[in-house]
Amino acid sequence: MTDPQIVLTERVQQALARAFGPEHADADPLIRPSQFADFQANVAMSLAKRLRRSPREVAESIAAELSDFPGTIEVSGPGFLNLTLDNAWIESEARRMHADPRLGVGTSTPPQTIVIDYSAPNAAKEMHVGHLRTTIVGDSLARMHEHLGNKVIRQNHLGDWGTPFGMLIEHLLDIGEAAAVEQLEAGQGTEFYQAARAKFDGDETFKTRARARVSTLQSGDPETLRLWHVFMDATVRFFNKVYAMLGVTLTDADIAGESMYNPMLQRTCDDLEAAGTAVISEGALCVFPPGFTGSDDKPLPLIIRKSDGGYGYATTDMAAIRYRVHDLKADRILYVVGNEQALHFQMVFAAAKQAGWLPDTTSAEHVRIGMMLGKDGRRFKTRSGESVKLMDLLQEAVDRAAKLIEDRGHDEATQREIAHAVGMAAVKYADLSVSHDSEYVFDFDRMVAMTGNTGPYMQYATTRIHSIFRGAGISPADATAPIVLAAPAERALGLHLLGFGELVSQVAADSEPHRLCAFLFQTASLLSTFYEECPVIKEGVDPEIRDQRLALCALTLRVLETGLDLLGVPVLQRM
Ligand code: ARG
Repeated sequence: MTDPQIVLTERVQQALARAFGPEHADADPLIRPSQFADFQANVAMSLAKRLRRSPREVAESIAAELSDFPGTIEVSGPGFLNLTLDNAWIESEARRMHADPRLGVGTSTPPQTIVIDYSAPNAAKEMHVGHLRTTIVGDSLARMHEHLGNKVIRQNHLGDWGTPFGMLIEHLLDIGEAAAVEQLEAGQGTEFYQAARAKFDGDETFKTRARARVSTLQSGDPETLRLWHVFMDATVRFFNKVYAMLGVTLTDADIAGESMYNPMLQRTCDDLEAAGTAVISEGALCVFPPGFTGSDDKPLPLIIRKSDGGYGYATTDMAAIRYRVHDLKADRILYVVGNEQALHFQMVFAAAKQAGWLPDTTSAEHVRIGMMLGKDGRRFKTRSGESVKLMDLLQEAVDRAAKLIEDRGHDEATQREIAHAVGMAAVKYADLSVSHDSEYVFDFDRMVAMTGNTGPYMQYATTRIHSIFRGAGISPADATAPIVLAAPAERALGLHLLGFGELVSQVAADSEPHRLCAFLFQTASLLSTFYEECPVIKEGVDPEIRDQRLALCALTLRVLETGLDLLGVPVLQRM
């Protein structure tokens, strides 16, 4: 274990046990980064009261038991322990990290099975910026868990079923299959839906046809199912274009849409009813999970079969959770879905627990995604109030990125490649760097900026290192000189890097990619200071120092590139 904060925690805990008895062996030593040392431990303050001794005395007893501490300890103020690590210790840990192909990132033992429900656009509506965010955050969680050796099962819970498909299929027949496919593949699903809707509302015979089509679809009529497939396949081809543009790891094999659960819905209802978990209320079959009440203090129902016999969103999710626990054998199920569905998931989880379908050994977690806002502070829309087309949005990011780098003398193909990577990094990093449950304003100017905690800035940090290696005429992989951390900027960078492995585990455990962004941003800032204070390939630099600094650059590069890759942000060699 390399993370200094963890090493120090363990050492101080051992000292606590030696000084005050084994019952203190797992007290939290409250180790925090400090202004006056590398870290400070604040445990003496909280322990003093319980031990009826002065905090200073307690701190001194701990310090006396820390003789094996690889650095200096100082008791300061009322009873803080200031801990400063020896350079030699940091250096040897940094060297060990540089020699480790995993950079100190652990592997989960035993591996967990993690089901991640993300992206999940609706075929009968539009894929909007909200789905962009669940796609991007979910994909980064999938990448991290895979890197940690967990078994990841991606589940793209497409909205691909329901009554709107009656009118969608009738409209498809009206305009012809070929024209429909072309429109849907091009991402014009909203227009398609609106045209169908307009006819449904204004044309009685169309409405009758659409309703009849819902029944033939539900009864499994082969021709209707074929038409449904024509519609869905074209729609999925459009989704795949968006995924490819973003570099998202979802494939068709990950599609587990609502329609997949159709054959299970009746049994879902029957089993819940037989178990007494679901009861008929006002004609509908409902579960009343304990602890949920409406505004009138009456128990809140989760409706699993409507009074007309139809199944809904909740029915599907009840079937899905059972499938994920029972068939997929999930240890954790992550639902990366908009904040506004929080109550729905709380009720589904509670109902599943009540039915015995969600044992304590499986954790179901709603990774709440905050809403994307426009500059006016409202839901993100175009100026004319329409929803923004995803492809247009991604294309605009690429166009803006192209402007950013247009006068750098790249040939056309390289220019295009870099613009694409920078544009996607801008959009993805903006989604990832804010805590996933907070709302944020979609602002192109900010996300494409080359300064601040942005995707392009992070890419720039890595290209700067690559350019040093080009200047040195060696490849980063060959920078294997021993890392030496003599200058303060080198030491600060080296010490920071040691926290990488533990951070990745924590980020995956807590589903908080924004903390990885913050770590990488801090890395880039420390790297900047290092450049200012420690010349690497400048003329006159001692060759031995040059090689040592190149090794530190190489380690930093690996951390930045690995981190960005775990976020799903593309990296570049030059920009
Ligand atoms: N299709 C839904 C939507 O766009 C999201 C589905 C999330 N997953 C689930 N199991 N309900 O809002």
